[in-house]
Amino acid sequence: MTIDFAALPHDFLWGTATSAYQIEGAVAEDGRSPSIWDTFSHTPGKIAGDDHGDIACDHYHRWREDIALMRRLGTNAYRMSIAWPRVIPGGDGPANPKGLAFYDELVDTLLAAGITPSVTLYHWDLPQVLQDRGGWPERDTAEHFAAYASVVAARLGDRVSQWTTLNEPLCSAWIGHLEGTMAPGLTDLTAAVRASYHLLLGHGLAVQAIRAAAPGAEVGIVNNLSTVHPASDRPEDLAAARRVDGHTNRWWLDPVHGRGFPADMREVYGVELPERAGDLEIIAAPLDWLGLNYYFPATVTDDPRGPAPYARSVRREGVPRTGMDWEVDPSGIEALLLRLTDEYGARRLYVTENGSAYPDVVRPDGTVDDPERQAYLTAHLAACASAARKGAPLAGYFAWSLLDNFEWAYGYDKRFGLVHVDYRTQNRTIKGTGRHYADLIRRHREGVAKAA
Ligand code: IFM
Repeated sequence: MTIDFAALPHDFLWGTATSAYQIEGAVAEDGRSPSIWDTFSHTPGKIAGDDHGDIACDHYHRWREDIALMRRLGTNAYRMSIAWPRVIPGGDGPANPKGLAFYDELVDTLLAAGITPSVTLYHWDLPQVLQDRGGWPERDTAEHFAAYASVVAARLGDRVSQWTTLNEPLCSAWIGHLEGTMAPGLTDLTAAVRASYHLLLGHGLAVQAIRAAAPGAEVGIVNNLSTVHPASDRPEDLAAARRVDGHTNRWWLDPVHGRGFPADMREVYGVELPERAGDLEIIAAPLDWLGLNYYFPATVTDDPRGPAPYARSVRREGVPRTGMDWEVDPSGIEALLLRLTDEYGARRLYVTENGSAYPDVVRPDGTVDDPERQAYLTAHLAACASAARKGAPLAGYFAWSLLDNFEWAYGYDKRFGLVHVDYRTQNRTIKGTGRHYADLIRRHREGVAKAA
């Protein structure tokens, strides 16, 4: 499979991505308070193998080694998240100097290594104290989020220009409050819809706060989107696909683009939104860029008795799947990049996450060869370049993930890393896919040099 490297801009960001709770560990160190994920992961039965993030990849102590790995991969960008409970342990109120100092040094060291930091403020680790006060279903949480964003932007904004408010708010709202398999583990449609509203309000307030604290900031939001296909051409399945598209894609994109919350989905949910005058304008603050996290497509059928949006996924037989049992379909990433361009008028796009988990086999000499992950990466990058060739303003790609890490409800069993982590010794080993990614990056750079 060939990748049309010439379709990618010369200053393309070649990155890797991680998030705080999935890699940092050190959950009780230097003043960090518990987050909803500490609570959830320590609730028996919630996580495969009763795993938790107490130690994770011990990145809090090994971050220098992890930056050295990024250098070996040849990446020029790193998408990381800040742990809110490390920076403001009380949820609101005073900042924790040690928490800020950790990220300060991390950012300085990345920059010194020639790696552009791309900072996400919320990758699901709400301080538990705020959950105890109602969490995202309550408006106050959105306001506290903006205050926290302001503190971080004021501290790092002289060196960090790329900011993400929320990572995958769909997961926080729908999986955390409706399906219940992620923190805080609720199964309550009203709470979920209210959470979705306040997450987007928090996003809009944070955009203002970041720009006020760091005038050069380039701010975006990261959504995990899917292409949605009806399981048949029955009218019920066509309608189900429309609802799933609303639930997965339009509910998160439309308000941010000044179109309000989709009317059809408001009807489907039947839950009153906690709207106040002026909120929609705040939510729709123009953004500098949009982030797409893409993993798999959805094929759905009508399911009137199921939970909202009254549709369920159908398993297509005979298609390749990853170790997560997720269908492999690179055409989806191209279709979504083009949809964001054509339908939402995106001016700059990043693939902020894309990757695959497969069961890795560590050879006796410590190496990991992972041809399936390598094929997944190549095919998706080829599809990204094809979208760019067709006009998508794609400015970067962040592979998920730099390291194997805590994969939420799946624990440590699912490995997405370009770098293998032995959780017993914390030894890191670059996998075959990591070496392959380094090679692709080098080939793009060679093309750029030749064209100069
Ligand atoms: O590990 C997650 C990440 O935290 C958010 N996006 C999807 C990844 C793989 O499931």
